[in-house]
Amino acid sequence: MSGEVIKRKLWTETTLFDGQITHDQKMALLVENDTIAMICPMSDLATDAYESADEVYSGGVITPGLIDCHTHLVFGGSRADEFELRLEGSSYEEIARKGGGILSTVRATRAASEQELFDAALPRVQALINDGVTIVEIKSGYGLNLNDELKMLRVARRLGQELPIQVVTTLLAAHALPPEYADDADGYIELICKEILPAAVTEQLVDAVDVFCEGIGFSVAQSERLFRAAQAYGLPVKSHAEQLSHLGGAALTAKYQGLSADHIEWLDEPSIRKMAASGTVATLLPGAFYTLRDTQVPPIDLLRQYHVPMALATDGNPGSSPIFQLTLMLNMACTLFRLTPTEALQGVTSHAAKALGLQNQAGSVKVGRKANFCLWNINSPAELAYSIQPGRLKQRVFRGEIYQ
Ligand code: NIG
Ligand code: FE
Repeated sequence: MSGEVIKRKLWTETTLFDGQITHDQKMALLVENDTIAMICPMSDLATDAYESADEVYSGGVITPGLIDCHTHLVFGGSRADEFELRLEGSSYEEIARKGGGILSTVRATRAASEQELFDAALPRVQALINDGVTIVEIKSGYGLNLNDELKMLRVARRLGQELPIQVVTTLLAAHALPPEYADDADGYIELICKEILPAAVTEQLVDAVDVFCEGIGFSVAQSERLFRAAQAYGLPVKSHAEQLSHLGGAALTAKYQGLSADHIEWLDEPSIRKMAASGTVATLLPGAFYTLRDTQVPPIDLLRQYHVPMALATDGNPGSSPIFQLTLMLNMACTLFRLTPTEALQGVTSHAAKALGLQNQAGSVKVGRKANFCLWNINSPAELAYSIQPGRLKQRVFRGEIYQ
């Protein structure tokens, strides 16, 4: 015997959404130190369970800790001016082609120090934490050169070290063409494959590689070169695909067993079949759909038909989705895309975990898993999607510690 003291926390009389389903009986859940040790219906709870627990809580709804599997929340500056331009009639693509859009954030991000980027990102991450998020994915993509891409990824890693949240990083150097390579997309892809990616790997700054495969981004052939380079380092790939047009990025992502294809408003049935075969998650980003006043709804029925898991994320970024509230995405996915509340909740828990390759560790409330879950002051899980109401999070349990 090691003589280690075990700390027991017991939750009783709760409604449990475990990442897949909502249990139809009131449940009890026991945490020992940082691990879920027992889950059972209240009717099966041993009477001495209360005495042997150090802390007991009662009531509410428990869900897995929420996972925001697609964000760009490290950036400099603001794009409120472009918001006004769009209100006056300019489109997102027009602004991008005139050197605004992503490139305006690139200028501000390059000009910012690591500390300034960290300070700017802090309230965005804090907003997600206050909304029940326990894992967040953060992309680079506003540096577009070696030093500034690595700078962004270092800030992302540091956020995970200093705040009670797990950060997963993604290299999105292939987000836009930097001004230095204005007429040379192939040359820029070469720079990413030969310099930026290897350096990010050496510094252990990157967990996955992403590309903006789009008319205003990179072609399928360029995306494929990048995916090959990523796979040579054993890194999983994902894409921003079929957002503004159907280019074939999702099928390419499936060909490389990608974790997820994201946005996918213009996704077609053959690509969906390929995603189903490769286990690639479809990540829906209703915040960008809403902000850009998109009208092309992702093919939800076909995704259901082929059992492609649908994840849901904020896409939190300064341009197309300046939104840092994941529970709002639950409502938007139901209202705009007609997801059921259960599908939406799976989208920010078990399916979001799969979109990050973490399905064996996160996104579900299960015995043996680390205790990462949320206790909500609501009556049923559907209420999280039904009403837009901050302040319902009663406890956020992260690695067994309660934050309230
Ligand atoms: O996911 N589509 C490209 N990237 C982001 C937008 C980034 C920006 O506008 O700054 C997106 O929507
Ligand atoms: Fe994005």
